[in-house]
This record gives sequence, C-alpha cells and structure tokens, in this order.
Amino acid sequence: MLDRTPSRNLAMELVRVTEAAALSAARYMGRGDKKAGDQAAVDGMRLVLNTVEMDGIIVIGEGEKDHAPMLYNGEKLGTGDLPQVDIAVDPIDGTRPLAEGRVNSISTVALAPRGAMYNPGPFVYMNKIAVGPAAKGAINVEASVEENLREIAKASGKRIQDLAVVMLERPRHEELKAEVRRCGARLRMIDDGDVAGALMSAWPDSGIDVLMGIGGTPEGVLAACALRAMGGEIQGKLYARNDEELARGKAMGYDFDKVLTMDDLVASEDVFFAATGITDGELLDGVKYFPKGARTHSLVVRGVTGTVRQIIATHKFEKLEHISFLEY
Ligand code: FBP
Repeated sequence: MLDRTPSRNLAMELVRVTEAAALSAARYMGRGDKKAGDQAAVDGMRLVLNTVEMDGIIVIGEGEKDHAPMLYNGEKLGTGDLPQVDIAVDPIDGTRPLAEGRVNSISTVALAPRGAMYNPGPFVYMNKIAVGPAAKGAINVEASVEENLREIAKASGKRIQDLAVVMLERPRHEELKAEVRRCGARLRMIDDGDVAGALMSAWPDSGIDVLMGIGGTPEGVLAACALRAMGGEIQGKLYARNDEELARGKAMGYDFDKVLTMDDLVASEDVFFAATGITDGELLDGVKYFPKGARTHSLVVRGVTGTVRQIIATHKFEKLEHISFLEY
C-alpha cells in the first residue's frame, strides 16, 4: 500500500544552514574584505550542515575560481546516517556585492540523492538559459537568442517586447546583450549572483522571464536544483575560457559541446534547496539587525512536493550564544 505519511523535508533543515551562513557573513557587508566574509559563511555553513542527519558528500563546492575559502569537493558532511546525499553549496553567491555593500548577495545549499548531481570538475563556467514554469520546454541553449525569445514568448502568451531577460553585466556578454536588444526584448543587468538571476525567472512577481549568459558551473547546478523544485527549467553547456582549458577538459573526458539538460544537472526529483538573503535583493531581504538579534529571509523548496516556502526568522543572539559556537 502506498505510504501517504508525509516524509521528512530536508530543506526545512537546510534553511538553518543558509541562515547560519548569512548571519555570519552579513557582519562583513561593505567592509571590503571578500575572503573574511566568505570564510565566515563557510564556517557557519559547515557547522550546521554537520548537524543534519544525513551521509553527505560535497559535489559542488567552491574556491577553484578565486581561491576562496572552501567547502571542499569530496568533503563528507552530516551525521553519517542515511540518507546518502550529494551536497551543492555556495556559502555566498555574491561575495563581491557583500564586500562592497551592494545588493543581491545570498547563501545557498542544495541536496539530492547520492550520484544525482552533475560534477563539473574544475571547469568554472557554463553557458546557461533558465526559465520559470510558463516557458518550461521552450528553451534550447544551442538555439539563437531570437529563436529562444520567440519560443519563450509563445509559451508564456506574451510578445517578445514584453519579455525581460536577466543577465550578468560582463564584457563577454556584449554580443548577447546586443542580440537581445535587436530582438526587441528588455534587459535587466545584474552585477553578480546568477543563482538569484535564475530564481527570478521562476519567481511569480519578479517581472523576469529568462536568464541568459555565461556564469559559474556551481551556480548552474544549484539553480537546476531550485528550478527542478519550482517547476522551471535550465539548460547549460560547459564554457572553456581558452584553448588550454578546452584541451584539458577533453583529456579529462568532458564534452564542451554537450547540452546539459535538467536531468544531467540533477538527475532526481527528490531535491531540496534553501537560500537566505545576506544583503537586500529583489527576491530576498538581507539580514536586518535589531537590538540583540537579527531577522533573516529565506526561500525553502522541495522537489517531490514542489512546495515553495518563504521563511522570515528572528534570531535572538543572547540565547543562541549559549548553545552555538557561532559568533553573532
Ligand atoms: P561568487 O560570489 O561565488 O564568486 O559568484 C558570483 C557570481 O556572480 C556568480 O553568481 C556567477 O555565476 C559568477 O560569479 C560569474 O563569474 P564571474 O564573476 O567570473 O563572471
């Protein structure tokens, strides 16, 4: 007989992980020290991840790109009990905006059954296209901008000129930007944070229809976990920065021409994702301090149910300091 007892939602535990990282990192807002902010987030995240009842291995860690403090790929986390899971972390997506006191810095983590997450190895960039539920099935990372916009418009019942594309502001995107403009769609440029950019495409009132452009591979896998649960879609293709990287990738068995579908990026519906705002963003508020405490704003999603929660938590430092190693 089918067991209809509601099962454990690990995302409800993950939100404590991203809250801890955000609370630790937010102290570094605008203080000009990327490394210190990242280290604080990593420490907060590791401490709480280790309390989660799971046998977890980090598949998507960070650090390769900018020698940041790391939660290492292959690092084991959790209590060691079942379930066996892959872990993707980005303790801070938006280390620069945090250090510079700008918007859109978030902390994120995702879990999927062991072996389900794509392992991009040392290859840091991916060409991505991501949409929300309205345009699921309408995208193709290999198609032209025009074709994608036409299909997205058709699927979502809009005209191309109604569409808004979110894109990282980078010199490498000049051509892509020009192409979007040529097609008549609108652009929303962001300085950093394309996990948040991908989430915007699936967020009902964001006014964003699609994320396009080249961003981090870890961020691509994290976005895939979130979009899988939120009913959207992302496709990607590894992007080599130069011939040496391409040759190295090929020698390691990576195919830079392969389209990475949602199933390639996370091969299971049974995913969990959480994110907490560090600085204010369009989706999530940043950490707000009040006397002897702070408030956090988080997103919590689960693949098998598709439930999307927003959690506003108030944290009382006086109490927490008695039971936690974290410095508030
Ligand atoms: P980090 O804060 O983790 O460094 O990432 C910020 C970010 O903007 C990501 O959201 C994005 O995927 C990536 O950097 C893009 O890389 P780059 O800044 O090298 O273009």
